[in-house]
Amino acid sequence: MQIQHNISLKNFNTFGIDAIAKQYIAVSSLAELQKVLNEHKDVFVLSGGSNLLLVNDIDKLVIHLNLKGISTEKSNNNQVLVAVSAGENWHDFVLWCIDHNLGGLENLSLIPGNVGTCPIQNIGAYGVEVKDTIDTVQAIEIETGEVRTFKNSECNFGYRNSVFKNSLKGKYIITKVTFLLTKESHQLNYSYGAIQTELEALNITAPTIKNISDAVIKIRNSKLPNPKEIGNSGSFFKNPIISLELFEKLKVIHPNMPSYPVNDHSVKIPAGWLIEQSGFKGKRFGQTGSHKNQALVLVNYGKATGLEIYALAKKIQATIFSNFEIALEIEVNVIE
Ligand code: EPU
Repeated sequence: MQIQHNISLKNFNTFGIDAIAKQYIAVSSLAELQKVLNEHKDVFVLSGGSNLLLVNDIDKLVIHLNLKGISTEKSNNNQVLVAVSAGENWHDFVLWCIDHNLGGLENLSLIPGNVGTCPIQNIGAYGVEVKDTIDTVQAIEIETGEVRTFKNSECNFGYRNSVFKNSLKGKYIITKVTFLLTKESHQLNYSYGAIQTELEALNITAPTIKNISDAVIKIRNSKLPNPKEIGNSGSFFKNPIISLELFEKLKVIHPNMPSYPVNDHSVKIPAGWLIEQSGFKGKRFGQTGSHKNQALVLVNYGKATGLEIYALAKKIQATIFSNFEIALEIEVNVIE
């Protein structure tokens, strides 16, 4: 374990941005991480790099988390607690669950990134959010090096949100996540239209968790660009939640606008629709652009800088605001 200098982060962020870490260290155990934190407090933690836009080079010490390990803890007739180290690849872990017939995460198949970052933005897809299966989150406090275990209720999970994105941002490093999964009576969730269509096409009426995972993989592959082929960070913006009042006003002008009810006062609008309606879908701007199959995903055609992608994001935000009076919020972590 040694500090290296001027390391390119291109292969460590799914956008494929060639930002430089002035100082870089990879850690593969909790003890190594504690040792580094004893000596350095001004650090930047890099995990799977899948929800990140690197706008500049990084002057702070970049700590690359490589903590590995999956272990089964307590178990009863139908449930099991599985503890997973932060550096495990998310999708590999989901496939491990399917292989061991453990239910709960199948809808979250093929999401890029590592296990340690899944609680930060409470990853979600096809009707399921990871908060529904998280039991505890183990994290280390940067300032003191102390290890703390957060119960699910202490994580303040919300839509693409948690305490780690808010009051505790930059204060803790997540080292392990423990999931409560089912062993047999799985709570399957296949109400999402696209999953149903996939299952119907295969004549599957009583799906298994593997069937659902396969359907999700197929849908994601058809809509979302593979970061190994074209740099991206998944949904770049959150789906905005707007007031009922604004929704009713917009609905008159755009009767086909899709929407999902949130509560009596607010409605969620798919950001992808707003971006498509504003003419950005599939459009290329130099080395960046909005993806042809899913407007919400911004892509790097190969040589984009973080600044170029950020500039496009700002242009989209300004256009959406002028067209719809809606302020789109960026979902990925922008590092300026
Ligand atoms: N839509 C368009 N044009 C587009 C894209 C979407 O009009 O280019 C409209 C369509 O009406 C479509 C609706 O948006 O029916 C919803 O689209 P989709 O099912 O693709 O989902 P999304 O709301 O765009 C969210 C998540 C995704 C997740 C999918 C599936 C957010 C910010 N994104 O996208 O998460 O995979 O639902 O559950 O909530 C991610 O976070 O990186 C991510 C990919």
